[in-house]
Amino acid sequence: MISLRAVTKRFGERTLFGGFDLDLAPGKTTVLMGRSGSGKSTLLRLLNQLERHDAGTLRCGELEIPAGLPHGEWQRRTLQLRRRTAMVFQSYQLFPHLSVLDNVTLAPRVVRGAERSAIEAKARELLAQVGMAAAAERFPARLSGGEAQRVAIARALATDPEVLLLDEPTSALDPNSTADVVAVIADLKRRGMTLAMVTHDPDLGRSLADQLVELPRLRG
Ligand SMILES: Nc1ncnc2c1ncn2[C@@H]1O[C@H](COP(=O)(O)OP(=O)(O)O)[C@@H](O)[C@H]1O
Ligand SMILES: [Mg+2]
Repeated sequence: MISLRAVTKRFGERTLFGGFDLDLAPGKTTVLMGRSGSGKSTLLRLLNQLERHDAGTLRCGELEIPAGLPHGEWQRRTLQLRRRTAMVFQSYQLFPHLSVLDNVTLAPRVVRGAERSAIEAKARELLAQVGMAAAAERFPARLSGGEAQRVAIARALATDPEVLLLDEPTSALDPNSTADVVAVIADLKRRGMTLAMVTHDPDLGRSLADQLVELPRLRG
Protein backbone atom coordinates (compact mmCIF):
# COMPACT_ATOMS: atom_id res chain seq x y z
CA MET A 1 0.00 0.00 0.00
CA ILE A 2 2.80 2.35 1.00
CA SER A 3 6.44 1.40 0.70
CA LEU A 4 9.70 3.07 1.62
CA ARG A 5 12.87 2.16 -0.24
CA ALA A 6 16.31 3.13 1.03
CA VAL A 7 14.82 6.05 2.89
CA THR A 8 17.11 8.28 4.91
CA LYS A 9 15.98 10.92 7.37
CA ARG A 10 18.35 13.43 8.90
CA PHE A 11 17.88 16.24 11.34
CA GLY A 12 20.84 18.52 10.77
CA GLU A 13 23.96 16.39 11.12
CA ARG A 14 22.13 13.50 12.79
CA THR A 15 20.91 10.55 10.74
CA LEU A 16 17.76 9.19 12.34
CA PHE A 17 17.50 6.31 9.90
CA GLY A 18 19.59 5.56 6.85
CA GLY A 19 18.62 3.32 3.94
CA PHE A 20 15.40 2.21 5.61
CA ASP A 21 12.92 -0.14 3.86
CA LEU A 22 9.32 -0.61 4.96
CA ASP A 23 6.22 -2.10 3.34
CA LEU A 24 2.71 -1.50 4.61
CA ALA A 25 0.86 -4.43 3.07
CA PRO A 26 -2.80 -3.88 2.15
CA GLY A 27 -5.16 -4.91 4.94
CA LYS A 28 -2.30 -5.58 7.33
CA THR A 29 -1.29 -3.94 10.59
CA THR A 30 2.28 -2.71 10.96
CA VAL A 31 3.34 -1.84 14.49
CA LEU A 32 6.34 0.43 15.08
CA MET A 33 8.06 0.03 18.41
CA GLY A 34 11.24 1.34 19.96
CA ARG A 35 12.58 3.60 22.68
CA SER A 36 11.62 7.19 23.09
CA GLY A 37 13.60 9.21 20.56
CA SER A 38 14.19 6.27 18.22
CA GLY A 39 12.24 7.97 15.43
CA LYS A 40 8.84 6.26 15.54
CA SER A 41 6.82 9.46 15.17
CA THR A 42 9.14 10.79 12.50
CA LEU A 43 8.79 7.57 10.50
CA LEU A 44 5.00 7.62 10.81
CA ARG A 45 4.89 11.30 9.79
CA LEU A 46 7.12 10.52 6.85
CA LEU A 47 4.48 8.09 5.58
CA ASN A 48 2.17 11.01 4.83
CA GLN A 49 5.00 13.50 4.28
CA LEU A 50 4.47 15.60 7.38
CA GLU A 51 8.24 14.98 7.38
CA ARG A 52 10.18 14.82 4.12
CA HIS A 53 12.87 12.22 3.56
CA ASP A 54 16.42 13.14 2.54
CA ALA A 55 17.12 10.14 0.33
CA GLY A 56 15.24 7.18 -1.08
CA THR A 57 11.69 6.84 -2.38
CA LEU A 58 8.18 6.53 -1.01
CA ARG A 59 5.62 4.72 -3.15
CA CYS A 60 1.88 4.49 -2.76
CA GLY A 61 0.35 2.57 -5.66
CA GLU A 62 1.28 4.45 -8.82
CA LEU A 63 2.38 7.46 -6.85
CA GLU A 64 6.11 7.95 -6.35
CA ILE A 65 7.72 10.50 -4.09
CA PRO A 66 11.50 10.40 -4.42
CA ALA A 67 13.59 12.60 -2.14
CA GLY A 68 14.52 16.00 -3.47
CA LEU A 69 11.50 16.79 -5.63
CA PRO A 70 11.05 20.47 -6.45
CA HIS A 71 8.60 21.99 -4.00
CA GLY A 72 5.65 22.37 -6.36
CA GLU A 73 5.85 18.82 -7.60
CA TRP A 74 6.33 17.50 -4.06
CA GLN A 75 3.24 19.44 -2.98
CA ARG A 76 1.16 18.05 -5.84
CA ARG A 77 2.12 14.45 -5.11
CA THR A 78 1.82 14.88 -1.35
CA LEU A 79 -1.74 16.10 -1.75
CA GLN A 80 -2.53 12.86 -3.59
CA LEU A 81 -0.79 10.82 -0.89
CA ARG A 82 -2.74 12.56 1.86
CA ARG A 83 -6.03 11.80 0.14
CA ARG A 84 -5.21 8.15 0.73
CA THR A 85 -3.98 8.39 4.32
CA ALA A 86 -5.23 9.76 7.63
CA MET A 87 -3.43 10.34 10.93
CA VAL A 88 -4.52 9.88 14.53
CA PHE A 89 -2.40 11.57 17.20
CA GLN A 90 -1.71 10.69 20.83
CA SER A 91 -3.35 13.94 21.92
CA TYR A 92 -6.52 13.57 19.74
CA GLN A 93 -6.34 17.15 18.36
CA LEU A 94 -10.10 17.57 18.12
CA PHE A 95 -11.35 21.06 17.27
CA PRO A 96 -12.58 22.34 20.68
CA HIS A 97 -15.13 24.79 19.26
CA LEU A 98 -16.89 22.14 17.13
CA SER A 99 -19.32 19.47 18.26
CA VAL A 100 -18.34 15.82 17.90
CA LEU A 101 -20.47 15.57 14.76
CA ASP A 102 -18.95 18.72 13.24
CA ASN A 103 -15.45 17.43 14.02
CA VAL A 104 -16.21 14.34 11.95
CA THR A 105 -17.97 16.13 9.06
CA LEU A 106 -15.50 19.01 8.67
CA ALA A 107 -12.91 17.41 6.37
CA PRO A 108 -15.40 15.72 4.01
CA ARG A 109 -17.35 19.00 3.77
CA VAL A 110 -14.18 20.86 2.78
CA VAL A 111 -12.61 18.19 0.57
CA ARG A 112 -15.60 16.93 -1.36
CA GLY A 113 -18.68 18.56 -2.75
CA ALA A 114 -20.93 15.78 -1.45
CA GLU A 115 -24.33 16.61 -0.06
CA ARG A 116 -24.41 17.67 3.56
CA SER A 117 -27.08 15.13 4.50
CA ALA A 118 -25.03 12.27 3.06
CA ILE A 119 -21.89 13.44 4.86
CA GLU A 120 -23.79 13.71 8.13
CA ALA A 121 -25.37 10.27 7.75
CA LYS A 122 -21.97 8.77 7.15
CA ALA A 123 -20.47 10.63 10.13
CA ARG A 124 -23.19 9.24 12.39
CA GLU A 125 -22.46 5.76 11.04
CA LEU A 126 -18.75 6.20 11.83
CA LEU A 127 -19.58 7.47 15.32
CA ALA A 128 -21.71 4.37 15.85
CA GLN A 129 -18.82 2.23 14.62
CA VAL A 130 -16.57 3.66 17.37
CA GLY A 131 -19.31 3.50 20.01
CA MET A 132 -19.85 7.27 20.15
CA ALA A 133 -23.23 7.67 18.41
CA ALA A 134 -24.86 9.11 21.53
CA ALA A 135 -22.23 11.85 21.82
CA ALA A 136 -22.72 13.48 18.40
CA GLU A 137 -23.93 16.81 19.82
CA ARG A 138 -21.40 17.01 22.66
CA PHE A 139 -18.26 19.16 22.65
CA PRO A 140 -14.72 17.75 23.03
CA ALA A 141 -14.21 19.31 26.49
CA ARG A 142 -17.01 17.05 27.79
CA LEU A 143 -15.38 13.84 26.57
CA SER A 144 -13.02 11.50 28.42
CA GLY A 145 -9.68 10.80 26.78
CA GLY A 146 -10.86 7.47 25.44
CA GLU A 147 -14.03 9.01 24.03
CA ALA A 148 -12.06 11.83 22.41
CA GLN A 149 -9.66 9.35 20.83
CA ARG A 150 -12.54 7.29 19.41
CA VAL A 151 -14.02 10.47 17.92
CA ALA A 152 -10.59 11.29 16.49
CA ILE A 153 -10.55 7.88 14.82
CA ALA A 154 -14.04 8.42 13.38
CA ARG A 155 -12.90 11.81 12.08
CA ALA A 156 -9.84 10.23 10.46
CA LEU A 157 -12.06 7.67 8.72
CA ALA A 158 -14.45 10.29 7.38
CA THR A 159 -12.38 10.95 4.26
CA ASP A 160 -12.19 7.22 3.37
CA PRO A 161 -8.45 6.76 3.83
CA GLU A 162 -6.82 3.60 2.54
CA VAL A 163 -4.19 3.74 5.26
CA LEU A 164 -4.68 4.88 8.85
CA LEU A 165 -1.60 6.08 10.74
CA LEU A 166 -1.84 6.03 14.55
CA ASP A 167 0.81 7.62 16.77
CA GLU A 168 0.62 6.15 20.30
CA PRO A 169 -3.18 6.28 20.24
CA THR A 170 -3.56 4.85 23.76
CA SER A 171 -0.55 6.19 25.64
CA ALA A 172 -2.47 9.08 27.28
CA LEU A 173 -5.33 6.82 28.43
CA ASP A 174 -6.28 4.89 31.55
CA PRO A 175 -6.73 1.10 31.22
CA ASN A 176 -10.51 1.16 30.65
CA SER A 177 -10.31 3.84 27.98
CA THR A 178 -7.38 2.01 26.42
CA ALA A 179 -9.46 -1.15 26.13
CA ASP A 180 -12.26 0.78 24.35
CA VAL A 181 -9.82 2.35 21.87
CA VAL A 182 -8.01 -0.95 21.27
CA ALA A 183 -11.37 -2.61 20.53
CA VAL A 184 -12.03 0.05 17.87
CA ILE A 185 -8.59 -0.46 16.31
CA ALA A 186 -9.00 -4.26 16.37
CA ASP A 187 -12.37 -3.84 14.65
CA LEU A 188 -10.76 -1.73 11.90
CA LYS A 189 -8.15 -4.42 11.42
CA ARG A 190 -10.90 -7.05 11.10
CA ARG A 191 -12.61 -4.88 8.49
CA GLY A 192 -9.43 -4.98 6.42
CA MET A 193 -8.09 -1.47 6.99
CA THR A 194 -4.36 -1.00 6.41
CA LEU A 195 -2.91 0.26 9.69
CA ALA A 196 0.43 1.60 10.84
CA MET A 197 0.59 2.15 14.58
CA VAL A 198 3.26 3.40 16.94
CA THR A 199 3.02 2.05 20.48
CA HIS A 200 5.09 1.77 23.62
CA ASP A 201 3.02 -1.15 24.83
CA PRO A 202 4.58 -4.50 23.82
CA ASP A 203 1.44 -6.52 24.65
CA LEU A 204 -0.73 -4.23 22.55
CA GLY A 205 1.84 -4.23 19.76
CA ARG A 206 2.07 -8.00 19.61
CA SER A 207 -1.70 -8.47 19.87
CA LEU A 208 -2.41 -6.32 16.80
CA ALA A 209 0.69 -6.62 14.62
CA ASP A 210 0.91 -8.57 11.40
CA GLN A 211 4.34 -6.98 11.10
CA LEU A 212 6.38 -5.66 14.02
CA VAL A 213 9.10 -3.13 13.27
CA GLU A 214 11.58 -2.36 16.02
CA LEU A 215 13.35 0.94 15.48
CA PRO A 216 17.00 1.16 16.40
CA ARG A 217 18.15 3.71 18.93
CA LEU A 218 19.13 7.10 17.70
CA ARG A 219 22.55 7.05 16.08
CA GLY A 220 25.04 9.82 15.46
N1 LIG B 1 11.74 18.72 13.66
C1 LIG B 1 12.80 18.18 14.29
N2 LIG B 1 13.99 18.79 14.28
C2 LIG B 1 15.07 18.24 14.90
N3 LIG B 1 15.05 17.07 15.56
C3 LIG B 1 13.88 16.42 15.61
C4 LIG B 1 12.69 16.93 15.00
N4 LIG B 1 11.69 16.05 15.20
C5 LIG B 1 12.23 15.05 15.93
N5 LIG B 1 13.53 15.27 16.16
C6 LIG B 1 14.44 14.39 16.90
O1 LIG B 1 14.43 13.10 16.27
C7 LIG B 1 14.47 12.08 17.24
C8 LIG B 1 13.28 11.14 17.05
O2 LIG B 1 12.09 11.80 17.38
P1 LIG B 1 10.69 11.07 17.30
O3 LIG B 1 10.46 10.61 15.92
O4 LIG B 1 9.68 11.99 17.88
O5 LIG B 1 10.93 9.82 18.25
P2 LIG B 1 9.89 8.85 18.98
O6 LIG B 1 8.52 9.10 18.42
O7 LIG B 1 10.39 7.47 18.70
O8 LIG B 1 9.99 9.17 20.44
C9 LIG B 1 14.50 12.77 18.60
O9 LIG B 1 15.82 12.84 19.02
C10 LIG B 1 13.95 14.12 18.31
O10 LIG B 1 14.47 15.06 19.21
MG1 LIG C 1 6.74 9.73 19.26
